[in-house]
Amino acid sequence: MTDIPVITIDGPSGSGKGTLAKVIADTLGWHLLDSGALYRIVGAMSVRRGIQLEDEAAVAELAASLPISFADDRVTVSGLDLTDEIRTEDAGENASKVAHLPAVRAAVLDLQRSFRKAPGLVADGRDMGTVVFTQAALKIFLDASAEVRAERRYKQLKNKGLSVSLRGLLEQIQERDARDRGRAIAPLKPAEDAIVLDSTNMTIEMVVEQVLSHAQNLGLWQPE
Ligand code: DC
Repeated sequence: MTDIPVITIDGPSGSGKGTLAKVIADTLGWHLLDSGALYRIVGAMSVRRGIQLEDEAAVAELAASLPISFADDRVTVSGLDLTDEIRTEDAGENASKVAHLPAVRAAVLDLQRSFRKAPGLVADGRDMGTVVFTQAALKIFLDASAEVRAERRYKQLKNKGLSVSLRGLLEQIQERDARDRGRAIAPLKPAEDAIVLDSTNMTIEMVVEQVLSHAQNLGLWQPE
Protein backbone atom coordinates (compact mmCIF):
# COMPACT_ATOMS: atom_id res chain seq x y z
CA MET A 1 0.00 0.00 0.00
CA THR A 2 2.81 2.42 0.88
CA ASP A 3 4.33 1.99 -2.59
CA ILE A 4 1.26 3.55 -4.17
CA PRO A 5 2.36 7.08 -5.14
CA VAL A 6 0.67 10.17 -3.76
CA ILE A 7 0.78 13.81 -4.88
CA THR A 8 -0.38 16.24 -2.21
CA ILE A 9 -1.76 19.68 -3.04
CA ASP A 10 -2.26 21.92 -0.02
CA GLY A 11 -3.15 25.58 0.21
CA PRO A 12 -5.77 28.11 1.30
CA SER A 13 -9.32 28.36 -0.12
CA GLY A 14 -9.43 30.02 -3.51
CA SER A 15 -5.80 29.31 -4.41
CA GLY A 16 -7.07 27.06 -7.22
CA LYS A 17 -5.90 23.83 -5.59
CA GLY A 18 -9.23 22.04 -6.10
CA THR A 19 -9.17 22.68 -9.85
CA LEU A 20 -5.47 21.85 -10.02
CA ALA A 21 -5.93 18.57 -8.12
CA LYS A 22 -8.75 17.49 -10.44
CA VAL A 23 -6.80 18.26 -13.62
CA ILE A 24 -3.70 16.46 -12.31
CA ALA A 25 -5.72 13.42 -11.21
CA ASP A 26 -7.52 13.27 -14.60
CA THR A 27 -4.26 13.68 -16.54
CA LEU A 28 -2.45 10.95 -14.60
CA GLY A 29 -5.55 8.72 -14.34
CA TRP A 30 -5.18 8.68 -10.54
CA HIS A 31 -7.75 8.79 -7.73
CA LEU A 32 -8.70 12.12 -6.15
CA LEU A 33 -9.28 12.98 -2.50
CA ASP A 34 -10.97 16.32 -1.78
CA SER A 35 -10.33 16.32 1.97
CA GLY A 36 -12.06 19.69 2.45
CA ALA A 37 -15.29 18.01 1.32
CA LEU A 38 -14.97 15.57 4.25
CA TYR A 39 -14.83 18.43 6.77
CA ARG A 40 -17.67 20.16 4.94
CA ILE A 41 -19.77 16.98 5.23
CA VAL A 42 -18.98 16.60 8.93
CA GLY A 43 -20.05 20.24 9.49
CA ALA A 44 -23.24 19.86 7.43
CA MET A 45 -24.26 16.58 9.05
CA SER A 46 -23.60 18.01 12.55
CA VAL A 47 -25.95 20.90 11.78
CA ARG A 48 -28.57 18.51 10.36
CA ARG A 49 -28.37 16.31 13.47
CA GLY A 50 -28.54 19.30 15.84
CA ILE A 51 -25.02 18.73 17.22
CA GLN A 52 -23.25 21.88 18.46
CA LEU A 53 -20.14 22.52 16.35
CA GLU A 54 -18.13 23.13 19.55
CA ASP A 55 -19.07 19.73 20.99
CA GLU A 56 -15.81 18.01 20.09
CA ALA A 57 -16.69 14.50 21.32
CA ALA A 58 -20.09 14.44 19.61
CA VAL A 59 -18.80 15.84 16.30
CA ALA A 60 -15.86 13.37 16.32
CA GLU A 61 -18.19 10.45 17.00
CA LEU A 62 -20.36 11.51 14.08
CA ALA A 63 -17.28 11.97 11.84
CA ALA A 64 -16.09 8.43 12.59
CA SER A 65 -19.45 6.90 11.69
CA LEU A 66 -20.45 8.63 8.45
CA PRO A 67 -20.82 6.36 5.40
CA ILE A 68 -19.52 8.92 2.89
CA SER A 69 -19.45 8.05 -0.78
CA PHE A 70 -17.94 9.97 -3.72
CA ALA A 71 -19.16 8.83 -7.14
CA ASP A 72 -19.88 10.52 -10.49
CA ASP A 73 -18.99 13.97 -9.09
CA ARG A 74 -21.66 13.59 -6.35
CA VAL A 75 -21.11 13.30 -2.60
CA THR A 76 -23.62 11.29 -0.61
CA VAL A 77 -24.06 10.11 2.97
CA SER A 78 -26.32 7.04 3.22
CA GLY A 79 -27.94 8.03 -0.06
CA LEU A 80 -28.47 11.67 1.00
CA ASP A 81 -26.98 13.90 -1.72
CA LEU A 82 -25.00 16.75 -0.11
CA THR A 83 -23.09 17.88 -3.23
CA ASP A 84 -24.64 21.36 -3.44
CA GLU A 85 -25.31 21.89 0.27
CA ILE A 86 -21.61 21.58 1.20
CA ARG A 87 -20.50 24.23 -1.34
CA THR A 88 -22.16 27.25 0.32
CA GLU A 89 -20.20 29.90 2.26
CA ASP A 90 -21.94 28.77 5.47
CA ALA A 91 -20.84 25.19 4.88
CA GLY A 92 -17.25 26.43 4.45
CA GLU A 93 -17.47 28.29 7.77
CA ASN A 94 -18.87 25.24 9.55
CA ALA A 95 -16.17 23.03 8.00
CA SER A 96 -13.45 25.37 9.26
CA LYS A 97 -14.97 25.25 12.76
CA VAL A 98 -15.12 21.45 13.01
CA ALA A 99 -11.70 21.12 11.32
CA HIS A 100 -9.90 22.79 14.20
CA LEU A 101 -11.08 20.11 16.69
CA PRO A 102 -8.25 17.56 17.21
CA ALA A 103 -10.61 14.61 17.83
CA VAL A 104 -12.42 15.33 14.56
CA ARG A 105 -9.13 15.42 12.62
CA ALA A 106 -8.12 12.10 14.22
CA ALA A 107 -11.50 10.60 13.32
CA VAL A 108 -11.10 11.34 9.58
CA LEU A 109 -7.44 10.28 9.33
CA ASP A 110 -8.02 6.62 8.40
CA LEU A 111 -10.82 7.54 6.05
CA GLN A 112 -8.49 9.92 4.18
CA ARG A 113 -5.71 7.31 3.96
CA SER A 114 -8.17 4.75 2.59
CA PHE A 115 -8.33 6.79 -0.64
CA ARG A 116 -4.76 5.71 -1.44
CA LYS A 117 -5.40 3.16 -4.17
CA ALA A 118 -3.52 2.06 -7.30
CA PRO A 119 -2.38 3.51 -9.60
CA GLY A 120 -2.02 6.63 -7.40
CA LEU A 121 -3.73 9.39 -5.45
CA VAL A 122 -3.88 13.16 -5.74
CA ALA A 123 -4.92 14.53 -2.34
CA ASP A 124 -6.03 18.12 -1.89
CA GLY A 125 -6.42 19.94 1.43
CA ARG A 126 -4.50 21.78 4.12
CA ASP A 127 -2.41 19.08 5.83
CA MET A 128 -2.10 16.40 3.16
CA GLY A 129 1.69 16.85 2.94
CA THR A 130 2.35 17.70 6.61
CA VAL A 131 0.20 15.08 8.39
CA VAL A 132 -1.87 12.68 6.30
CA PHE A 133 0.57 11.62 3.53
CA THR A 134 3.98 12.62 4.88
CA GLN A 135 5.74 10.20 2.49
CA ALA A 136 4.11 11.65 -0.65
CA ALA A 137 6.23 11.50 -3.81
CA LEU A 138 5.44 15.11 -4.70
CA LYS A 139 4.14 17.84 -2.40
CA ILE A 140 2.75 21.11 -3.75
CA PHE A 141 1.70 24.12 -1.66
CA LEU A 142 -0.41 26.45 -3.76
CA ASP A 143 -0.81 29.97 -2.41
CA ALA A 144 -2.30 33.25 -3.72
CA SER A 145 -2.93 36.65 -2.19
CA ALA A 146 -6.16 37.01 -0.18
CA GLU A 147 -7.30 39.80 -2.54
CA VAL A 148 -6.98 37.64 -5.65
CA ARG A 149 -8.69 34.71 -3.92
CA ALA A 150 -11.60 36.96 -2.89
CA GLU A 151 -11.91 38.27 -6.46
CA ARG A 152 -11.97 34.73 -7.90
CA ARG A 153 -14.69 33.71 -5.45
CA TYR A 154 -16.62 36.92 -6.20
CA LYS A 155 -16.61 36.13 -9.93
CA GLN A 156 -17.69 32.51 -9.32
CA LEU A 157 -20.64 33.58 -7.16
CA LYS A 158 -21.62 36.39 -9.57
CA ASN A 159 -21.63 33.89 -12.43
CA LYS A 160 -24.03 31.79 -10.40
CA GLY A 161 -26.31 34.86 -10.22
CA LEU A 162 -25.68 35.44 -6.48
CA SER A 163 -25.28 38.96 -5.15
CA VAL A 164 -22.28 39.21 -2.83
CA SER A 165 -19.94 41.90 -1.54
CA LEU A 166 -16.27 41.70 -2.49
CA ARG A 167 -15.25 43.35 0.77
CA GLY A 168 -17.38 40.86 2.75
CA LEU A 169 -15.77 37.93 0.92
CA LEU A 170 -12.28 39.30 1.56
CA GLU A 171 -13.02 39.64 5.28
CA GLN A 172 -14.42 36.11 5.38
CA ILE A 173 -11.34 34.72 3.60
CA GLN A 174 -8.97 36.56 5.94
CA GLU A 175 -10.88 35.32 8.98
CA ARG A 176 -10.89 31.71 7.76
CA ASP A 177 -7.19 31.92 6.83
CA ALA A 178 -6.33 33.14 10.32
CA ARG A 179 -8.27 30.23 11.84
CA ASP A 180 -6.74 27.62 9.46
CA ARG A 181 -3.17 28.95 9.72
CA GLY A 182 -3.28 29.73 13.45
CA ARG A 183 -4.78 26.53 14.86
CA ALA A 184 -2.63 24.40 17.13
CA ILE A 185 -3.20 21.12 15.30
CA ALA A 186 -2.33 20.59 11.63
CA PRO A 187 -2.18 24.31 10.78
CA LEU A 188 -2.16 25.35 7.14
CA LYS A 189 1.52 25.62 6.21
CA PRO A 190 3.82 24.16 3.56
CA ALA A 191 5.58 20.88 4.40
CA GLU A 192 9.35 21.32 4.64
CA ASP A 193 9.78 19.34 1.43
CA ALA A 194 6.90 21.02 -0.44
CA ILE A 195 7.26 23.00 -3.64
CA VAL A 196 5.56 26.35 -3.01
CA LEU A 197 3.78 27.91 -6.00
CA ASP A 198 2.13 31.32 -5.86
CA SER A 199 -0.80 31.49 -8.28
CA THR A 200 -1.53 35.21 -7.69
CA ASN A 201 -0.26 36.12 -11.17
CA MET A 202 -0.59 32.70 -12.82
CA THR A 203 -3.39 31.09 -14.80
CA ILE A 204 -4.47 27.59 -13.84
CA GLU A 205 -2.92 26.32 -17.09
CA MET A 206 0.47 27.70 -16.04
CA VAL A 207 0.20 26.05 -12.62
CA VAL A 208 -0.84 22.70 -14.17
CA GLU A 209 2.13 22.84 -16.53
CA GLN A 210 4.57 23.38 -13.66
CA VAL A 211 3.13 20.55 -11.56
CA LEU A 212 3.13 18.14 -14.52
CA SER A 213 6.73 19.02 -15.19
CA HIS A 214 7.65 18.16 -11.57
CA ALA A 215 5.67 14.89 -11.86
CA GLN A 216 7.51 14.05 -15.06
CA ASN A 217 10.93 14.78 -13.53
CA LEU A 218 10.08 12.40 -10.68
CA GLY A 219 9.03 9.67 -13.12
CA LEU A 220 5.40 9.79 -11.97
CA TRP A 221 4.06 10.72 -15.40
CA GLN A 222 4.99 10.65 -19.08
CA PRO A 223 3.31 12.89 -21.68
CA GLU A 224 1.64 10.85 -24.45
O1 DC B 1 -10.76 23.22 0.93
P1 DC B 1 -12.12 23.59 1.52
O2 DC B 1 -12.42 25.07 1.40
O3 DC B 1 -13.24 22.76 0.97
O4 DC B 1 -12.01 23.26 3.09
C1 DC B 1 -13.04 23.56 3.98
C2 DC B 1 -12.48 23.75 5.39
O5 DC B 1 -11.95 22.52 5.88
C3 DC B 1 -11.35 24.78 5.48
O6 DC B 1 -11.74 25.92 6.23
C4 DC B 1 -10.23 24.11 6.20
C5 DC B 1 -10.69 22.72 6.48
N1 DC B 1 -9.75 21.70 5.99
C6 DC B 1 -8.76 21.27 6.85
O7 DC B 1 -8.68 21.77 7.96
N2 DC B 1 -7.92 20.27 6.46
C7 DC B 1 -8.01 19.74 5.23
N3 DC B 1 -7.16 18.78 4.88
C8 DC B 1 -8.99 20.20 4.32
C9 DC B 1 -9.84 21.20 4.73
